Amino acid sequence: MPSRPQTPQRRVSPRHFLMCPPTFFDVTYAINPWMDPRVPVDRDRAHAQWSHLVAAYERAGHRVDLLEPVPGLPDLVFAANGATVVDGRTLLARFATPQRAAEAAVHRAWHERSGVLYGGRGLAEPVAVNEAEGDFAVLGSVVLAGHGFRTSVAAHAELAALTGREVVSLELVDPRFYHLDVALGVLDAAADQVAYFPGAFSAAAQAVLAERFPDAVLADAEDAFAFGLNLVGDGRHVFMPTGAPHLRDALEARGYVPVEIDTSELVLGGGSVKCCTQEIRPTPSTPGATSE
Ligand code: ARG
Repeated sequence: MPSRPQTPQRRVSPRHFLMCPPTFFDVTYAINPWMDPRVPVDRDRAHAQWSHLVAAYERAGHRVDLLEPVPGLPDLVFAANGATVVDGRTLLARFATPQRAAEAAVHRAWHERSGVLYGGRGLAEPVAVNEAEGDFAVLGSVVLAGHGFRTSVAAHAELAALTGREVVSLELVDPRFYHLDVALGVLDAAADQVAYFPGAFSAAAQAVLAERFPDAVLADAEDAFAFGLNLVGDGRHVFMPTGAPHLRDALEARGYVPVEIDTSELVLGGGSVKCCTQEIRPTPSTPGATSE
């Protein structure tokens, strides 16, 4: 019998996502190197691309809740930046730039209303600047946390105190990778599986990543510049943008099922798949036990 490479069985774990339609998406200011207000945005196309992502999540069995879009908040489509929910505990965002500051209240209102439905265990008002899942990657054993451009190191400690999780700080050094989630993607949170682009990190952060994740998938510059790492993994599927062929092939070789979505319009704002996706991680349920 011909020998086949051993790939592990990959299983979907159902997720709960919060997303915001790009109804008012636009590039009217530049707060990251990808944004250029002179380049027009095709909002219908952005909406079609975003809808494909929602449909792909739902086909895979994930739940998608919607945040109401707000005129004048063109970046609200990047819902990952609004809050971080770990075990039902929610740390709201405090944005680094004045252009996005008003988004925090929109997220707060949603979580205040919906927390009870997702098993929320309270909202924490942030003290230090944090752009939520843009810079926090929640794994099974630790939370990886970016700093250098948006989220401050002090916010890493806030998340650690709130969740009781170890939070590992990683310094980002290239302004094109201004959030952790454009430099590192979580393939399988429970199994601590990640992919990343070393060039986005300081030498010290690269050493930490190499030591903690010796079997990580390393993306090359082409993958990374195509926002390939701005992905969402559910343990089996990896929802990712088109245009990162090496990464896609490397994931396939590891037994993942890449689901590629064209996000070319959203990329004009400096974001892709993960940026559009906030994950609601409820209180872990103990089999056989009643909830607290
Ligand atoms: N225009 C937005 C900003 O610069 C894009 C945010 C992308 N979101 C993300 N999670 N990386 O803030």
